[in-house]
Formats: sequence, C-alpha cells, structure tokens
Amino acid sequence: MTEADRLDTLLREHRIFPPDETFRAQANFKDESIYQSAAEDPEHYWAQQAQYLSWQQPFSKILEWEAPHAKWFSDGTLNAAYNAVDRHRETNRKNKAAIIWEGEPGDSKVFTYDMLGREVDKAAHMLRQLGVKKGDRVAIYLPMIPELPIAMLACAKVGAIHTVVFGGFSAASLKDRIVDADAKILITADAGWRRGGLVPLKQNADQAVVDTSVEKVVVVQRVGENAQSSMVEGRDVYWHELIATMPHTPFAPEPMNAEDTLFILYTSGTTGKPKGIVHSTAGYLVGANTSMRSVFDIKDEDVFWCTADIGWITGHTYIVYGPLSAGTTLVMYEGAPDWPNRHRFWEIIEKYGVTIFYTAPTSIRTFMKWGHDIPMGHDLSSLRLMGTVGEPINPEAWMWYHEYVGRGRCPIVDTWWQTETGCAMIAPLPGLLATKPGSATKAVPGISVDVVDENGQSVAPGHGGYLVITKPWPSMLRTVWRDDERFQKTYFGQLPGIYLPGDGAHLDEDQYIWILGRIDDVINVSGHRIGTMEVESALVDHPAVAEAAVIGRAHEVKGQAITAFVTVKEGVSTSDALIAELKQHVVEKIGAMARPEEILFAAELPKTRSAKIMRRLLRDIAEGRALGDTTTLADPSVVEALKSQYQDKE
Ligand code: WTA
Repeated sequence: MTEADRLDTLLREHRIFPPDETFRAQANFKDESIYQSAAEDPEHYWAQQAQYLSWQQPFSKILEWEAPHAKWFSDGTLNAAYNAVDRHRETNRKNKAAIIWEGEPGDSKVFTYDMLGREVDKAAHMLRQLGVKKGDRVAIYLPMIPELPIAMLACAKVGAIHTVVFGGFSAASLKDRIVDADAKILITADAGWRRGGLVPLKQNADQAVVDTSVEKVVVVQRVGENAQSSMVEGRDVYWHELIATMPHTPFAPEPMNAEDTLFILYTSGTTGKPKGIVHSTAGYLVGANTSMRSVFDIKDEDVFWCTADIGWITGHTYIVYGPLSAGTTLVMYEGAPDWPNRHRFWEIIEKYGVTIFYTAPTSIRTFMKWGHDIPMGHDLSSLRLMGTVGEPINPEAWMWYHEYVGRGRCPIVDTWWQTETGCAMIAPLPGLLATKPGSATKAVPGISVDVVDENGQSVAPGHGGYLVITKPWPSMLRTVWRDDERFQKTYFGQLPGIYLPGDGAHLDEDQYIWILGRIDDVINVSGHRIGTMEVESALVDHPAVAEAAVIGRAHEVKGQAITAFVTVKEGVSTSDALIAELKQHVVEKIGAMARPEEILFAAELPKTRSAKIMRRLLRDIAEGRALGDTTTLADPSVVEALKSQYQDKE
C-alpha cells in the first residue's frame, strides 16, 4: 500500500471497538482519570511507576532535563538483572516458570525464576573470570536460545553493556557493530537452526572479529557435530565447558547508577552507518515494566508470548526486560512460523496456554495468505489479549487478527514505538480505550505526543504531519554511542527540545493517531528497519556497480520491499546472473533481510538539475503509478527508459 492509499483507506475506516466491560473490570488500568493525572504531572506518574522496581539506593530526584539530554532518577542505584530475576527468587514466584523455551527442532526447556537465576549467576561468574568489568561492552550474536537472555542478564549483573546483534546479520555487519562498540568479548553459537537448515553464526563470527578489540569468543554449542565450525586456540572457549567450572554461589549484583548504560542496540538511519542507540538502566526498565502492566495488562497467571527476535528492540523489551521484571511466564520460540508446517504458532499457543500474544503485521498478513482455516483448526481459547508492532497495520489485517485469532473476544493493542523510545509509546490501554482497526490510538499515560507541521505547529484534527514527542520520558535513548552530535541532530535538530521520531502521522477527529510510515530514507521490510544508504553502499561496493539508488515500494506481505536501481560501470554487461550476484552481495554485506526484491539496470539514474536522485520518481516507477512532476528532471528520457524496463518485467 502506498502512503496515499493508506491514508485513503484510513479515512474510510470507521469501525470502532469499545473496551469490553468484563475485560475492563479486571484490568490493571481501569480508571480513566490516569490519562489526565499523568498528563498534568508526568514526573509524578513516572516516579510512582518507578516504585515497581527494586532499588538498592532509592532515588530522590525524578527528572533533570537539559534538552536534549534527560536524566531520570539519577541519584538512585539498582541492578537490572536483580530486578528481572533475583528479586522474584525471594518471593513465591521463586519456582514459577520464567522462560518456557521451544526449540525449532521440537526440543523444549523450562526455566523457573530460581533456575534462571542460577544460570545467570554462573554466566556472570564466567564473564568476570574472562575479565569483563563494569562498563565493558560484550557483543552477543546468538540464535533464539536460552543462553541469549542469560548472557544479556549476566552482562547486566556484572554491570557490562551488552550489544546484541541479530543472528540474521552478516559477518560484515557484525564486525561494524563490534568495532563501533569496541567490544571485548563476543558470545556466539556454533550455528543456529532455521527451517531445518543451519545459520553459520560461528563462521560469520570468525570473519567478524579479525582486527577488532575482541579478546575472547565464547561459543554456545547449539547444533553440535554438523555445525561446521572450528575453534581458534587461545581465543575461543565453549560456553558449556567454562560454565561447568564456575562456582554455584550467588553473584552479587553490581550496583548501577540509574543512568548507567544497560545496553547499546544498533538501528538504521539515513546515513550508511547504523546508530548505536544507548539505553539507560533505570529509565529503560521503568518504561519496559510499566508498559507490561498498562498496555499488556500483565497478571501473574499470564503466559506471554512475543514472537520477535531478541536481536531487535521488541525482543529486548518484550521478551527479556519487560516480562521478567514483571515476574511473568514468557514463551520464547527459536524458529520459523512455518516449520515444520504452518500450524507451528497456533500449536505453541495451545501447548503452553498462551494468554497474551504479540506479533507483527507482516506475520499476520502471511497468516492471512495461508488461510484462516489454519488458526481456526486450533483451540486458541487461552488467549485474552493480542498486540501488534513494527509497522502500520492495515485495517483488513487487524480485522482478520481480531476474527480468526482473537475470535472476536480479545482486545488488540497496536503499539507504536521504536528502538529509540525503549517501550510502547502510542497504544490503547485495553481496558480503557476504544480501538479502531489501523490506528495505534493515543499516547500511553505519561507520554506526550503531537502531530505538527514543518514549523512545529500542532495540526488540527483531520490533518496530517510529523509525529513528535514533546516531553522527555524515562525510557528514551540517552544518546547515540560515541556520537552525541548525531543524536542531537537526528532527533532534536528540527524542533528544539522536541523529539522527532521520523514518522508521518494523521490525527483524526477523535484525536486518534494513524501512523503513516517513515518520512526519512528508512525502509520498513517486514518490520525491519533498513537504511536505503546502507543498501546503496553495499551495491556500490560491488566492482560492477557505478551508482545505485534504493527505494522501498509497497509490498502486500512485507509492507515494503526493496527495489534497487543500478547503473553499471563502463564495459560491464548486464544479465540475470549479475542481478543474482548483486543480490547476494547485499546479503553478504548486510544480511538476508536487506536482499533487494528486484534490481533494475539503468543507463542513468533520474536526477534533478542539482544532481539529487529523485527517489519519489523511482518509487512511482516501482509501484507502477503515473509519474508525478518530472519538470525538475535533468534528463526526462531516463525515466521513460526505466519505466519501460519495469513494465517489461511485469
Ligand atoms: C514503525 C520497533 C506503525 C515506525 C518497535 C517506527 C510502527 C519504526 C509501529 C521503528 C506501529 C513500529 N504502527 N508503525 N504500531 N511500530 N512502527 O526501531 O515507522 O525497529 O519508526 O522499533 O517502526 O522500528 P524499530
């Protein structure tokens, strides 16, 4: 769907689903006045929410704001791993299931809070023995196996900063992140499982750590004999061998200042270089924990399943820190939704009695394509609440989710947020707000958002503009790792003191927000953020390529797909084989999620007279639309040539 089509659909969408009375009666947040009281005094609201954490040294200051730098609870100390695990071991949650893990091949494991705590302690001893100190960076490149959250929590326990790199990233991308973060240790696996095949994590890691600050590589054995990985003497150690020699004594949690960095997570932006988003310890945890109680209405009896990968922010917040800090039983699944068949997700819900299910619109559209008979053939009566995240959801997908997964019973929380915001920012509180298919509704309590025009003036209801966040919030990013200037410029450069997320939005007559998508050069492919510049750099890196322009075009299932326009160097002949080679080159430079859907060769790229590539025109071509204004084009024949090539393809 194009932006204009989306807007058109949204404006015609008038269905509304008021909160269910029974749901409301049992909801954690059932008093409407919370919206107003939090808006009047957000600092008071957040200070109250912060009481749900356990502090070593309680805070007395709430917010210090010197735009664009915020400090929250800055004289308090606490430890994130203690909050996520150990404090529950001291209560009757001690033997409650914390992580129910399901492996792709069908193996499964359950960790109670007590068991999880022991594993985290052993891993913390291990990190300490490897010389990891407070503030050191540890890179983690693992599949969705229990060692992943255990490694993150062990970092938190010793006060180290973790930077998790999604297992789908290539060796080159992993290396960029290791170098930028200056990581001392890399934790990886011999290989990972994906649809029965192997992901060569260790092989990638071997390439990535060459000429970096990494001193030791800790290797989790997930696959074993067939992994085709080897160990480098003196540098590599097996996780299980080292763990076996660790003391079984508790590891004392490192007291961390509220503002100490908990983790760095890289995300794409407008330049070719990913940004290391820096999150604090206390503010981030307060945001994650609060949204579990407010947006997800979490209860002790719940079984919470977020289907994201922990390599992305959604997994950090809603598989690790949110659910665990709230003492939740969570489900973590290693593999693909269609392995060994298309029933897998629904079988997992049945098998573990999942009550809250959180997934992405792209997955829902995939399920729609597979047909509603599949979920309808399963007993999903355990579900009571469902969520979506990652990209705008089209009303049809929302309705399908509502009908065939929720069976018309379950409220849907469409949650808008970003790596930078740390936790859900715009989302309905399910007991309080009526939902509209396709709208993330309104900001959660304590968060102030607006839709503004280029001058920063609020738009009237019925209009669109830029989404902004007008006040600091606890889980906001603190900076970009070692690039505070970029932080200031990217997010606060337009309107002083006002955070610009980079999304367009429409405000309706009820003040509901409808997210329209990115307004910068970021493409959202199946909920994954990919910078056009990153893909262009990867293409230009190939010896045959002279120039490349990359755009996101509407795609039925993925939301957006990558189309690349490429001009080759003099003397290079174009062919299907070259297309395949270029696609593979992008996969090797970035990762499979950045593989262009199609590559078109162009004798020249359409440019303005000031030599700027006209991306909008390229998007029009790729989406088969009548071409917009071409009068600023330096050479109009360029577009005609491209257009006919694209039509030939179809
Ligand atoms: C988009 C993922 C519409 C948006 C948590 C944002 C959404 C980017 C929604 C962040 C939603 C996320 N409705 N758009 N519910 N959720 N987005 O950093 O464009 O991977 O800026 O964080 O995804 O992606 P990120």
